[in-house]
Amino acid sequence: MIKLQNISVSVNQKEILTNISFNLNPGQITTLMGPNGSGKSSIANTLAGNPNYQLTSGKIILDNQDISLTPPNIRSGLGLFLASQSPVAIPGLNVKNFLWQLYKKHHPQNSTTLSEFRSLLDQESTNLDIKKELLDRSLNDGFSGGEKKKLEVLQILFSNPKYLILDEIDSGLDVDALKLISLRIKKLVTQLNLSVLIITHFAKILDYLKPNQVIILEKGQIKKIGDDKLVNQVETLGFSL
Ligand SMILES: Nc1ncnc2c1ncn2[C@@H]1O[C@H](COP(=O)(O)OP(=O)(O)OP(=O)(O)O)[C@@H](O)[C@H]1O
Ligand SMILES: [Mg+2]
Repeated sequence: MIKLQNISVSVNQKEILTNISFNLNPGQITTLMGPNGSGKSSIANTLAGNPNYQLTSGKIILDNQDISLTPPNIRSGLGLFLASQSPVAIPGLNVKNFLWQLYKKHHPQNSTTLSEFRSLLDQESTNLDIKKELLDRSLNDGFSGGEKKKLEVLQILFSNPKYLILDEIDSGLDVDALKLISLRIKKLVTQLNLSVLIITHFAKILDYLKPNQVIILEKGQIKKIGDDKLVNQVETLGFSL
C-alpha cells in the first residue's frame, strides 16, 4: 500500500501541490483526473522521487516504510514504476538490451536465460502489436507517440512492479492499441495484486480498468474523492461539477 499523507510540494520554491492525502491499495485502481496544469503529473513525479519536486510537508509511506526522502532508484527497487506522460528518448540505448537489463535487475533470483527472455519478449511484443524492428532501435528515439506508450507497457511487464503509476498511458494510442494495452495491464494488476494510479483525461481506458477510487484535482488540491460515478459526472459536466 502507498499512503500520501498531507503532502505539499514545491518546484523552484513555488508551491504546486497542497495538502494531498490518499491511499493506493493492493489490487485496486485509483484514477486521478483534473484540468491541464492541476498537478496530476506533479503527484506522479513526487511519488517517483523526481528531485525537482520538493516535499515541503507531509509523508509518503510505502508498506509502512517512510520513503519521503528515498531516491528514485531505490523506490524503483521497491517496485514503484512510473510510466511517464512524456517518455524520454535515449539515443544509443538499444531497446532489447535495455529490457534485458531491466528484467535482470528486477528478477535477481530468476535464472531465465537470454534466449528464454528473447522468446518472452517476442511473445509480449506480438501480443501488444509492437513491430519487431522497434526493438532493435534506440529507446524512444524517433518513435511515434503510440509506439512510446507501448514501449512503456513492455517496460512495466519486465520490471515486476508492485505499484504502478500510469501518467496518460492512453494518450496517442489508437482504439485497438488502447484495448490491447488496457487488457494486458488489467491481467497484470490481477496477477501481481498491483496498487495502480491511472492519470487520464479520458473515460475510455476506465471502461477496461474500472477504478475503485476517483480523485479530482484542481489547482494543486483535491477537489473531490468518490467512486467510478464521478467519471461519468466529469464526462457530462466537465470539471465544474
Ligand atoms: N518541473 C517544473 N517546473 C516548473 N513548473 C512546473 C514543473 N512541474 C510542474 N510545474 C507546474 O505545476 C503545475 C502542474 O503541472 P502538472 O504537470 O502537474 O499538471 P497536469 O495536471 O499533469 O497537467 P496536464 O493534464 O496538462 O498533463 C503547472 O502549472 C506546471 O507548469
Ligand atoms: Mg500531466
